Amino acid sequence: ANTPIPERPALPLLGHALDIPRGADGLLHLVKEVKELGPVYRVRAFGNETVVVGGLDLVAELADETRFRKNVHQDLVEIRQIAGDGLFTAYAHEPNWQKAHDILMPAFSLGAMRGYHATMLGVARSLIAKWDRMAGSSPVDVPADMTRLTFDTIGLCGFGYDFESFRSEKAHPFVDAMGRALAFTQTKSESLPGTEIFRWKQAERFRADAALMTDLVDEVIRQRRASGDTSTDDLLGRMLHTRDAVTGEPLDDLNIRHQVITFLIAGHETTSGALSFALHYLTKHPEVLARAQAEVDALWGDTDTPSPSYGDVGKLTYLRQVLNESLRLWPTAPAFAVEPLEDTVIGGTYPVRKGETLLVLTPALHRDAAWGENVELFDPERFAPEREAERPVHLFKPFGSGERACIGRQFALHEATLLLGLIVHRYRLIDHADYQLKLHQSLTIKPDGLTLGLARRTTSD
Ligand code: HEM
Repeated sequence: ANTPIPERPALPLLGHALDIPRGADGLLHLVKEVKELGPVYRVRAFGNETVVVGGLDLVAELADETRFRKNVHQDLVEIRQIAGDGLFTAYAHEPNWQKAHDILMPAFSLGAMRGYHATMLGVARSLIAKWDRMAGSSPVDVPADMTRLTFDTIGLCGFGYDFESFRSEKAHPFVDAMGRALAFTQTKSESLPGTEIFRWKQAERFRADAALMTDLVDEVIRQRRASGDTSTDDLLGRMLHTRDAVTGEPLDDLNIRHQVITFLIAGHETTSGALSFALHYLTKHPEVLARAQAEVDALWGDTDTPSPSYGDVGKLTYLRQVLNESLRLWPTAPAFAVEPLEDTVIGGTYPVRKGETLLVLTPALHRDAAWGENVELFDPERFAPEREAERPVHLFKPFGSGERACIGRQFALHEATLLLGLIVHRYRLIDHADYQLKLHQSLTIKPDGLTLGLARRTTSD
């Protein structure tokens, strides 16, 4: 017999809205509910219903693409106001998804990563130049500088456009506008329908922010068109000049705008957060840091300014373990949703309806008992190469699942591993404020207020 999906008693209309705190505490609350209610439960708010899933067996079942596909849930519907039918927010039935996916996939191949390497290294050197000036004197704002790095990297690698973030004390205006716009869309999907009227000031601000982002993107596209360059094979070059193999058409201008905005958003926040968490854990775990330093020292010795090759990054396997373990504890895009293609039953007993939102809560999955005891402990050994084969396939999903999984995964891992390598090679990381982890959440999560002291390493450390 079918069992109804567990849920807490709910108020009419408000549902569980009053139980769920806003922002990062809301995420932690949902993760805690997995311990209390089990690996699947239902939450309701303002007429929206979500089935939350946080355990290995169910996530493995939902990965079956003959039964489930990506669900564009309420938050993503709101983000469509900025990103339209771009890859991340496109509905499964929108033809531009397949078209853009096919056109852009080659830009994320291993060969393409080789091409981005020198640019990524150049941006990493801008960060190091800044950190050298601060080492020994003032602490660095880790998430802010990681955001500068990842934003400039996607701008240059994707669109040949230099945002020059390290030249400024302030965040790039696009980054601020994006942060506010995403926060606004989030508030909207967390509020009572009809209350928009009380947020008209924010709504006005949102329109201005959206316009700022669109104008910048149009300028990036205009500059490329004006340059007459038709041979550069980066994301923008491919979008402007490649025709879809099936329809023979290129992407239309509006869709290209949506894709550029999508890449500027998806291509930097998550990687920036992942780098910040990794630096936090490296600082708090001296034995892990020492091993990471031994790994880079073996490659680059005590060269003052190493020039890592593309191949070197693949050799930093311990740093990759550190990144993976950081992404296990805090997957920076902390959820993704799927929907059943037909009414069906999950877990052998819970009925779910065609099209309803089944939200995979990644931080809960990443704390499933299948990880062993002490799931809260930061331990990169979980990702030791000899243990890879024993890990169930669907236990680690920081990049989502199936055909709608992250297209930028290799890009992010290459960029992040390279930078972490350069940082641990060059600096001692000093926990000058005895930082206690606190999450900041917008669309993604990052360590709130993390600052670190730095000192240049000498040959004796
Ligand atoms: C999709 C995570 C870096 C571009 C996704 C999804 C996740 C994710 C979980 C699936 C979302 C869903 O199912 O709704 C991450 C993490 C990153 C990262 C944790 C860094 C550590 C990047 C980078 C880029 C990128 C660097 C671009 C250069 C995208 C795009 C999609 C996506 C375009 C939508 C793919 C599609 O539906 O076709 N990402 N991402 N991401 N990501 Fe990433």
